[in-house]
Amino acid sequence: MNKLIAEAISARESARAPYSGYRVGCAVKCDDGSIYHGANVEASCSSVGICAERIALANAILAGKTPKQLAIVGEADAPLSPCGTCRQFMLDFAPLKVILANMDGDEKHTTANKLLPLKFERRSQ
Ligand code: THU
Repeated sequence: MNKLIAEAISARESARAPYSGYRVGCAVKCDDGSIYHGANVEASCSSVGICAERIALANAILAGKTPKQLAIVGEADAPLSPCGTCRQFMLDFAPLKVILANMDGDEKHTTANKLLPLKFERRSQ
């Protein structure tokens, strides 16, 4: 199995998902080879919960690193497809390779740019 997927599976153990019961794990690999983890953290007000991808990317950024690749894992029939908010968030770190996976060993390789075509982009001032 791909090492980054294995890291995401291990990160998933830390998920806090008492409301949906759906645990997601994420691992981010940075340009220096370091790896940062994330898992979904839910809150009683469902809209304020945070997805695994954004937590993992934030962990890498707070450590001063540059994310290059990300793997996400959830229990699903097909490789987990990230939500729209995470797709938009990932684009700030493009070019970013993305591996979508499930717990059965299915995986799909894509990029942040492919996951959100015709993206919103702010012109720098
Ligand atoms: N979730 C993620 O962590 N990442 C995704 O890409 C999709 C959904 C979480 C949010 C929520 O805690 C749970 O999965 C079920 O919706």
